[in-house]
Amino acid sequence: MLTRREFIGYGVSTLFLLSLNEKLFASDTPDVFPLGIASGDPTQNSIVLWTKLNPDVIKKGVEKLNLHISNDPEFKSYQTLPIDLKFLNPKTNTLKITVSDLKPGTQYYYRFEYRGISSLVGKFRTLPNGKVDNEKIIFVTCQNYPDGYYPAYRHIAQEEALMVVHLGDQIYEKRYGNPRVPGRDIQFPSGKDIANTLEDYIYLYNTYLSDKDYQLARATTPFVYIWDDHEYANDYSFDYSKGLYVLPTHPDWIKNNPKLVMELRKYAIYAWNAFTPADAKINFSDSNPLKWIKIYRDFKIGDLAHLICTDERSYRDPQPCDKRFGSLGCEDQYKTSMLGKEQKEWFFEKLKEKGQRWKVWANEVQFVEGKINNLFGSLDAWSGYLGEKQEIVDFLDQNKLYNTVILTGDRHATLIAEVRKDNKNPDSIVAVEYMTPAISSVNASEIPFYKRNFNLENVEEFTKLELEQNPWIRHINNKNWGYGVLELTKDYADCKIWSVNKYDPNSDKQLDCHYRYLDGKRELKKIS
Ligand SMILES: [Fe+2]
Repeated sequence: MLTRREFIGYGVSTLFLLSLNEKLFASDTPDVFPLGIASGDPTQNSIVLWTKLNPDVIKKGVEKLNLHISNDPEFKSYQTLPIDLKFLNPKTNTLKITVSDLKPGTQYYYRFEYRGISSLVGKFRTLPNGKVDNEKIIFVTCQNYPDGYYPAYRHIAQEEALMVVHLGDQIYEKRYGNPRVPGRDIQFPSGKDIANTLEDYIYLYNTYLSDKDYQLARATTPFVYIWDDHEYANDYSFDYSKGLYVLPTHPDWIKNNPKLVMELRKYAIYAWNAFTPADAKINFSDSNPLKWIKIYRDFKIGDLAHLICTDERSYRDPQPCDKRFGSLGCEDQYKTSMLGKEQKEWFFEKLKEKGQRWKVWANEVQFVEGKINNLFGSLDAWSGYLGEKQEIVDFLDQNKLYNTVILTGDRHATLIAEVRKDNKNPDSIVAVEYMTPAISSVNASEIPFYKRNFNLENVEEFTKLELEQNPWIRHINNKNWGYGVLELTKDYADCKIWSVNKYDPNSDKQLDCHYRYLDGKRELKKIS
């Protein structure tokens, strides 16, 4: 029989932590720390830690919150860092601090404590230096709260991964129809159907983060967040000639109210930054709205992987041609930029940096083309930015950066694809694209947009035609929800997609697919 210490030593500390946190959920903990805890943006010697303190429990005279950090999940010994309550964000009561002077590649445990009440207990591992044999990275996207539960996050909490990369659509700015499951409605403080005030955006994060499965995942694994459109507004882009954001489906933009549109941008950034354990800084005093925040950044995982995270919303030109879905396309597809000049230069510099076997690109929207009966799938994705897409492909090819893995979200589907320099040539692979399905948002089996845009009868036909007509796409699932696991070794970059049933909060997980990209071989293999 294992002793407790051996039990923890065998890497079962996650299970120990999960059962401890389940007990804490049933104690006074949620009254004091209603949204749990989180860690994010790990480096070799630092981490961002996050929590929210319920303002109703703050007592005069108790002006400090304690942070405990330990190498032991049972906290037999730990360091205490007292934090003055004046560091709480006055609008959100959240706390975000960077803890530095940590050791590389080391497991840490942490908890907050206020007036003798402990928060959930969390853990994170700092990024390693030097030789690294293997690591596991989870990637997730699209978690519309009223669309379903988050069983995916309960499974993620048990994965023992180095990090969860969140590819965006952490919240949805609008009440998109009635909730699909009980108990998950959205009622904005402003009374509108779309976020209209700072309070509305704050309300969204408070609501989404009330989910216990999401809290468990955030406690158990560090997150690296980027965003997609819904953290601000659907399908947004930037009009460089006017210096304004374009929100094509937003009522205030349609009513030509640029002042409010730019105010909303500030609210969206403010709320994201307050609730997200990301190492980003706000600067609203800059007259250029593109300088208000920068979220593109990178992480190095020993000699194994270089994770490069881009922002594909804030700097992009408006979507080209006539319509988003089912477009014949037009010349403008080759003139648009998704990354913007400055970020693209940074991106290419990062791609050129040497020292890691794998380049892992956290990319928000579908990279490979997917045409059906000659119509482009979505011009909001890279198909709307084909000139810049080809520039990236050529860059990877010229620099022989064939060990590149593109992680993608946004589409609410699983997609596994070869990224080819020339789509007609199967021997011209320069990278692979691994797309994870939504955590909970509606997929094509629930919203039949293919009928309207492609004149197809059912989702099976939609999937079949896309696979047949785009042979570089190896696998599509338009009917699932779940998460992706990237397993990196020196020999391969594997992707497993795990499916869950979002309608059942206790859903099991099932393997949707398992693909392997072989080091140096430019070959993508189906494992199962
Ligand atoms: Fe989404």
